[in-house]
This record gives sequence, C-alpha cells and structure tokens, in this order.
Amino acid sequence: MTATPNPQPLLSIRGLRKSFYGIHAVDGLDLDVMPKTITGIIGPNGSGKSTSIDCLSGFQAIDAGQVLFDGRDIGNLPPHAIARAGLIRTFQTVNVYDDMSLLQNLMQAMVPFDKAGWLDDLLRTRRLRQAEAEARARAEHLVALIGLQRYAEAPAAILSYGQKKLLALAAALMPKPRLVILDEPVAGVNPSRILEVEEVIRQLHAAGETFAIVEHNVDFIMRLCSHVIVLVGGRKLTEGDPKTVRSDPRVLEAYLGIRA
Ligand SMILES: Nc1ncnc2c1ncn2[C@@H]1O[C@H](COP(=O)(O)OP(=O)(O)OP(=O)(O)O)[C@@H](O)[C@H]1O
Ligand SMILES: [Mg+2]
Repeated sequence: MTATPNPQPLLSIRGLRKSFYGIHAVDGLDLDVMPKTITGIIGPNGSGKSTSIDCLSGFQAIDAGQVLFDGRDIGNLPPHAIARAGLIRTFQTVNVYDDMSLLQNLMQAMVPFDKAGWLDDLLRTRRLRQAEAEARARAEHLVALIGLQRYAEAPAAILSYGQKKLLALAAALMPKPRLVILDEPVAGVNPSRILEVEEVIRQLHAAGETFAIVEHNVDFIMRLCSHVIVLVGGRKLTEGDPKTVRSDPRVLEAYLGIRA
C-alpha cells in the first residue's frame, strides 16, 4: 500500500516582514493555510493581522519574506494579479456600493476578472453577453445562498451592517476563488446574525471552499475552524486545533495580560 502524500499548503508564508516608520507590524511571520480547511487567525489589537493580509494580497508592499500561493511566488504582485491567481480577501471595514442593487454589487465584483476587452464592450459581442449572463447567474446563486434574494434588486443601502458583511462575502466569492481571506467577518454584526454568517461559511466550506478568517470573536473562530493560528507582535505565538490553542496559557496571557 502506498502512503497518501501530505497535501501541500495552498498558502505558505515565510519570514514575512512589514514595518511602518520603524514599527514592526509584521515581524517574521510564518503561516500556512492548507487546502479545503477553515483556518482561524486571532491575536490582540495591533498584532499585525490586517497588515499580514494586506501584504499577502498585494495591498501593502512587503519588506521581506516569501508568499507562495499554490507553490507560486506572489510576493509583491499587484492586488489584481493576486486576485486573478485565485486569492481574494475582504476588508475589515465593510465596502459595498450603497446605491447599487445587491445583484449589481455582485456583478460589479467580476469587472477585474472580465476577459472581454474594450472592443467587446463597444460591439456588445457574444463573448461579452455570455460573460454578463454567467455573472448574473452566479450573482443570483450567491444572493440566495446568503439568504437575501428578496432584496436582490433593492439598493444595498437598505441592508443592515451584518447583511452588508454577508454581501461583501458573496462578492468575494463571485470569481470562484481558491482561497478566501476574511478580515473580521462578524465584527460589529448583531449576535443573532453571527450564526447566519457562520452557517454560510460552513455551507461554502462543505462545497469545497478554503477560508482563512481573522476575527476577534474567539468563540466564532473556535466553532468554525479546524486550525487556529495566534499572532502576537507580528509573529506567530502558537497554532493548533481550537481546544489546544484555547487551553494554552500563553494565549491567555497574550489576550488578558495574565500569567496562568
Ligand atoms: N498604514 C499604516 N501606517 C502606520 N502604521 C500602521 C499602518 N497599518 C498598521 N499599522 C500599525 O501596525 C501594527 C499592526 O496593525 P494591524 O492593523 O495589522 O493589526 P491588527 O492585528 O489587524 O489589529 P486589529 O485587531 O485592531 O484590527 C499596529 O501597531 C498599527 O498601528
Ligand atoms: Mg485588523
């Protein structure tokens, strides 16, 4: 019998560094995300979570280190090139277009991935019409998946903050990414809606999606993730399954400043 080879990480970060005016926001971070998992990333305020995401998604220039996505070096590529490679991230602050309908918001998310050129646009070619039809079908599927189909044609302005976060999650999924990185998907979301977000992520994961989730809501992370990474001071403090991480005295100390 041949042994099953260990799967390779989908995302692999080694020695990532980023400073702002002498402050080491990310200070030699090593981090792996395995395919088909939900990996949680937690850590106190200012521990470098968002900066790490900004660096690996091309929104901040990297000072040093390596970012491999499916074995390919994506370090310091521009955001659109990283997104086209299949790595999509959301932002800590919710960003949807209030005056566009939910479906328009979702279809808009496909613009950077549009293969049709200006000539297709001008001539409204079959290729363009087909791309639009596909985007609309996917948008309709996703708006139903997040449970907001009754508002599909309404402007996003009518949504609650939590519903806007769900819409941003659906927009990230539009181009069928291979890895979705969520920065604080339930921060500021009404507790009753948090379970909805959780259920949507569970369904997407069951359908084969890979997630990395940064979140302050530790219970949410512990329920959802199979693997949890703890950042402190721009580095990895520890990692492991939720139970192990939760009972690690160093994690308690990092969060609460107490020694167990
Ligand atoms: N654009 C920037 N310019 C200067 N300093 C920054 C910038 N972005 C982040 N920092 C600093 O880098 C450090 C890490 O910040 P970062 O936002 O990555 O932390 P975080 O873990 O996401 O925190 P939070 O949980 O509050 O979102 C902090 O000291 C922050 O003040
Ligand atoms: Mg942050």
